[in-house]
Amino acid sequence: MKILVTGAAGFIGSHVSEALLKEGHDVIGVDNLDPYYDIKAKEDNLKLLKRHRNFIFYKEDIRDAEALRKIFSKEKPDKVAHLAAKAGVRPSMAEPETYRQVNVSGTENLLKLACEFRARNFVFGSSSSVYGLHDVPFREDAELEPISPYADTKKQAEELCRQYHEKCNMPVTILRFFTVYGPRGRPDMAVYKFTALINEGKQVEVYGDGETSRDYTYVDDIVSGVVAALEKNYPFEIFNLGNSATAKLRELISTIEKALGKKAKIKQMPMQPGDVPITYADISKSRKMLGYNPKTRIEEGVRKFVEWYKRH
Ligand SMILES: NC(=O)c1ccc[n+]([C@@H]2O[C@H](COP(=O)([O-])OP(=O)(O)OC[C@H]3O[C@@H](n4cnc5c(N)ncnc54)[C@H](O)[C@@H]3O)[C@@H](O)[C@H]2O)c1
Repeated sequence: MKILVTGAAGFIGSHVSEALLKEGHDVIGVDNLDPYYDIKAKEDNLKLLKRHRNFIFYKEDIRDAEALRKIFSKEKPDKVAHLAAKAGVRPSMAEPETYRQVNVSGTENLLKLACEFRARNFVFGSSSSVYGLHDVPFREDAELEPISPYADTKKQAEELCRQYHEKCNMPVTILRFFTVYGPRGRPDMAVYKFTALINEGKQVEVYGDGETSRDYTYVDDIVSGVVAALEKNYPFEIFNLGNSATAKLRELISTIEKALGKKAKIKQMPMQPGDVPITYADISKSRKMLGYNPKTRIEEGVRKFVEWYKRH
């Protein structure tokens, strides 16, 4: 099977690509190596992927419909895993238009081409942030209440997914990821950022009172959900991919402290706009229909991340 993976140089995209390559699929990676964080990390991810003979990479921007068309014409992918995006809630406040162009228009470019070239499945990486301030646990059929430009772009992209599924009868699956962490993780996210600061003895700025909770999900569990969604080919479904176990920010910090054997120097900061107090996934639908079964408890996942971090 030929699978086009956008965002292949990024955190989740590189893990998904690796898993698909190991299963023997041909992976066509697309990524513009956006400088949102150090592109050295993305180049390292690509080096790992390029060890596989069944990997091919295009450094292109998903906003460039013509460049994408050439890739679709040449490669004719059977399926698409669309994971490229401008990620991050806080930076989206400063650059809402760029987020819209990449996350909404870029997604539409891909949907159009996948439809035209008759892709057999389109899997879209959405986010738990679409639920915003909704009551927990979040269920897929809940009313969406995004409270940041980033979350709003994901909601709009989900709507486009639905429209293109209806318009061209293409199977589309939307996956809502919940705070993903693990080796090769994003340096702007809590697990990575706090590990680095605590390890270097620097001050850790904690926004809010440490009571905010997240459904931290280990990347291998997310990958299993993405691969299952690619295999299942449901006509149109939305699934939560979370751990369905929340941890408070201060619990996360103490888990990292234990894994590193170092104490954090905490500086209390006010809560940031766009941040939600809690995310918590109801994963009963994913369990039933995708066979999704997250296995990694936060203590184990953080320990694996810290081991990777120390080696790098
Ligand atoms: N990490 C999480 O906790 C999390 C949670 C919810 C949703 N998501 C979503 O999962 C997907 C992957 O996220 P990630 O954490 O791996 O982030 P990431 O930033 O590591 O990966 C995204 C990749 O997309 C690429 N990209 C950005 N703009 C692009 C453009 N215009 N054209 C082509 N490529 C472009 C980046 O270079 C990057 O390599 C994203 O869609 C993100 O919104 C992630």
